[in-house]
Amino acid sequence: MTKLNGKKLRSQEWWGQPNYESFARRAWMRSEGFSSDFFQNKPVIGICNSWSELNNCNAHLRIVAEAVKRGVLAAGGFPLEFPTISLGEMFMRPTTMLFRNLMAMDVEESIRANPLDAVVLLCGCDKTTPAQLMGAASADIPAIMVPGGPMLSGQWRDRMLGSGTDGRKLFDLFRTGKVSEEQWCEIEGGISRSAGHCTVMGTASTMTSLAEALGMTLPGSANIPAPDSRRLTMAEMSGRRAVELALEDLRPSQIMTRQAIENAITVDMAIGGSTNAVVHLLAIAGRLGVDLRLDEFDAISRRTPYIANVKPSGEYLMEDFFYAGGLPVVMKEILHLLHGDAMTVSGKPLRENLEKAECFRREVIRTAAEPLHPEGGTVILYGNLAPDGAVIKQTAASAHLLQHTGKAYVFETYDQMRSQIDSMDLPVTKDTVLVMKNCGPKGAPGFPEWGHIPMPKVLLSQGISDVVRISDARMSGTSFGTVVLHTAPESALGGPLAIVQTGDEIRLDVAGRQLELCLPAAEISQRLQKFTPAPPKYDRGYGRLFLEHVTQANLGCDFDFLRKV
Ligand code: FES
Repeated sequence: MTKLNGKKLRSQEWWGQPNYESFARRAWMRSEGFSSDFFQNKPVIGICNSWSELNNCNAHLRIVAEAVKRGVLAAGGFPLEFPTISLGEMFMRPTTMLFRNLMAMDVEESIRANPLDAVVLLCGCDKTTPAQLMGAASADIPAIMVPGGPMLSGQWRDRMLGSGTDGRKLFDLFRTGKVSEEQWCEIEGGISRSAGHCTVMGTASTMTSLAEALGMTLPGSANIPAPDSRRLTMAEMSGRRAVELALEDLRPSQIMTRQAIENAITVDMAIGGSTNAVVHLLAIAGRLGVDLRLDEFDAISRRTPYIANVKPSGEYLMEDFFYAGGLPVVMKEILHLLHGDAMTVSGKPLRENLEKAECFRREVIRTAAEPLHPEGGTVILYGNLAPDGAVIKQTAASAHLLQHTGKAYVFETYDQMRSQIDSMDLPVTKDTVLVMKNCGPKGAPGFPEWGHIPMPKVLLSQGISDVVRISDARMSGTSFGTVVLHTAPESALGGPLAIVQTGDEIRLDVAGRQLELCLPAAEISQRLQKFTPAPPKYDRGYGRLFLEHVTQANLGCDFDFLRKV
């Protein structure tokens, strides 16, 4: 019987025992046409596939899985591919975030319940990466991640387009008649030209990059474009490595340590990553028993330069980023801020993985000495409007609004905002602070990406392209603007956002990390006492489980019973 580190292979508990159950399991395995020596005494490598035709970003992952399989077979392992639910950002209602924890549970229990010695995680679209990392962290058998990679750069006429980011900008031009119907149709056909996740530094590119920074992928894995043949080569190599991981018994808990998580936060700041990374890293840390606090993101942000010139904070697309050298170059550039000794799934510490990294386009990846911004992309705000914190992506905000005081215009709900935002009578100016309530984890529910409140049409018609926007929602990582998000506690729970009224003055001070409702404390507490919560929006099924157990944004929105801390 094959042993690893003096222990039996886990899979042998299923089919290596001298009893009827093992006989039956072997027989049922052979019903798929395998001969007995094909799988006996070999590391069984699960390929956890989030492929789905309802998730265009992950639509190529079956081809990637085939490459993983040949790597596993070449290394003497036995690959078995299995599906989990997939979370397609564009299609799922009301939001994929409602189901991230469900997918994480699916991944965790699928791994734990089956005869697997190691697992290869195939991800791509936004929530599929954190869900797999959360599930793998809790199951804690050896795991390696193979992201599906970004799609090709979008193209319209002679312009390169970034999915999400440029789509939103062009939609504002379409709404105001500056882009015609015919042009809009052309854009629809050219903005997403292949499978793969969004091709800006949105949540998917951020989270797959952070998976690499955490040490959970082979070096250089995250940013290879989805259709590039090197994506399949990397998948094959990852399959081979998975067999070794099984024999070494190198587990996620030994890779995703506090040091690795601090590395991931640092890299997130350097790449101008999605604000969603804050929520997902808090959730991953919670699964591992790492007591990570929201304010630690800000401390790391203050010391980390932003150097990846990729949309929405910068100018280029993920293809450019990869051709410039990609994430290994960024990490090498800021190695002095990273824990270089952190172990990775390659079997080597991070520092060694980066030795050969080389930058080929300095306009895309700057040096740490000449950054695009001296601080990281995301910063954390506190104040009487966000006692438990809020986030803003300062590198995607307008410089002139980073210190701003203005009167609030309040939308009580997302639906109210949608019905009013295009009204030419909306009483707003360039100084207005748009406030939207009831969009948080419990309020929406599901913590949707509604925080990028569209610019009021009346302001767009005046040539104004940004105002301060505040909500307890999230925002797509592809979005931009002076947008405060994740305000906690959320309004549906009676957080201070709940009592803001149109006409109240709000002060945003990004440099001072402050978000203040400019009212006397007595007035605030009087209004808070009058708050009454709305009845729950789900009374059965998964929705009810979510409402009863989801934690707030500053804790990562995982279920309370799944956290280790
Ligand atoms: Fe899947 Fe953007 S929609 S990554």
